[in-house]
Amino acid sequence: MRGADDLPPPPVALFPTADSRTRVDDLLTRALIEAGERVLRGPVMPSVDRARLRAELAAFDFAAPRPLEELIAWTLGQLEHGVVHMNHPRYFGLFNPAANFPSQCADRIAGAFNPQLASSGSSPAPVEIEAHVIRAVARRAGLPADSAGHFTTAGSEANYTALVCALTRANAAFGTEGVRAFGGPVAMYTSRECQPAWFKIVHQAGIGRAALRLIDTDGKGCMDAAALAQALAQDRARGVIPVLVSATAGTTPAGMIDPLAECARIARDAGLWYHVDAAWGGAALASARLRPLLAGIELADSVTIDAHKWFATTMGCGMFITRYPRVLSEAFRVSTDFMPSSVAQLDPYLNTVQWSRRFLGLRLFLSLAAAGWDGYGTHVERASELITRIAEQLAARGWSIANDSLLAVLCVIPPPGSAPIRDIVRKVLESGRAWVAATTHEGREVLRICATHGESSLADASELIAALEAAR
Ligand SMILES: Cc1ncc(COP(=O)(O)O)c(C=O)c1O
Repeated sequence: MRGADDLPPPPVALFPTADSRTRVDDLLTRALIEAGERVLRGPVMPSVDRARLRAELAAFDFAAPRPLEELIAWTLGQLEHGVVHMNHPRYFGLFNPAANFPSQCADRIAGAFNPQLASSGSSPAPVEIEAHVIRAVARRAGLPADSAGHFTTAGSEANYTALVCALTRANAAFGTEGVRAFGGPVAMYTSRECQPAWFKIVHQAGIGRAALRLIDTDGKGCMDAAALAQALAQDRARGVIPVLVSATAGTTPAGMIDPLAECARIARDAGLWYHVDAAWGGAALASARLRPLLAGIELADSVTIDAHKWFATTMGCGMFITRYPRVLSEAFRVSTDFMPSSVAQLDPYLNTVQWSRRFLGLRLFLSLAAAGWDGYGTHVERASELITRIAEQLAARGWSIANDSLLAVLCVIPPPGSAPIRDIVRKVLESGRAWVAATTHEGREVLRICATHGESSLADASELIAALEAAR
């Protein structure tokens, strides 16, 4: 059938009427709230039967269309039973938050308008909103007023951006010749407690995995600054060219903070780019009480902070912030005549890894604007307090505390005579009562408990402790 303008009508399944959209939207909203309530009452762990799921998927041959309502119901069922529930208050897990509500609203808005954030010409308002949020976070970190940056898909992209900036600033010919411009092996430095995505970052940046120097820690999980200085001197003597020091503010296993100011001084004295990976710990900037823990972050040349970690936005939403926006513009420069604008130091396609981009920054804009820094301060302090209470209760039951962090993560070792840690973790997960992890901290196996859900309560903590005690 032809429409009035003699074109075939748009497929109604893809572009339904406003009435039909409203009906499905309402249904979806209600179904999501009901599913969320069931999740709270159910196990943290998935119960999906993968063989059955694959069989059901096989039936999707995409030949005959199916009603969207039916598809939404099917999908919600898969999500309800087919994921570890990060939005369960007893998910004490890796740093994947229960997403806050303003950021979920932001996702809806971004999805509906679907602005292209590559350029300020096509998306003047979104580009300005993102730049504003980045400046606000930079100011909060104590970076200079003319600092800039952008939202990234995640912390790994932000850390990768730091390395590209370091290489770009270290050698003017890097952009043209790549690492050959250095005339020798280059290296970057971080602690052996760093987040392992750095291995992939040095690989994809072309400096190679051997270029990642893992500096010893001090026995508590923080980079040993003296060992850093020594490694730099030794490498230089061997003809290696150092380009980047990355300190971690909130290590993944144990929430430890490297000596940020001392690392800054060492990097500065050696003429190196100084990055602080505060992917997770960065949200502590919101709290007047916890913010001093990050002293020294203001000395960084660049910083990574994930909004999708302790700021609890939907995934993935990272930030890269630098005091040297010109280096970003140099690293990601490109020229074309088909883009709607080319504004140096503003247009994201001229300053970032990505080209087409989603309006990610709206998530943190709405969250920050709705809660204010004080609201976020309460959020992070509450998590820190909850972990302190769990630590006290476990210590009273004979568990030992293996880390010393206020960043809402606890590494514990069960009392002597308990089952091996991995068995305890397995049993807790099988029970569905809570989610915790086994990891290694300073060479020792530990059980890791992290407050990632903004609404976890003391009752949830008691249930976790009961599950741990029953499993050991
Ligand atoms: C300290 C640190 N840096 C970087 C990352 C990587 O961030 P993303 O998972 O957002 O890529 C993580 C992830 O846990 C992290 O804890």
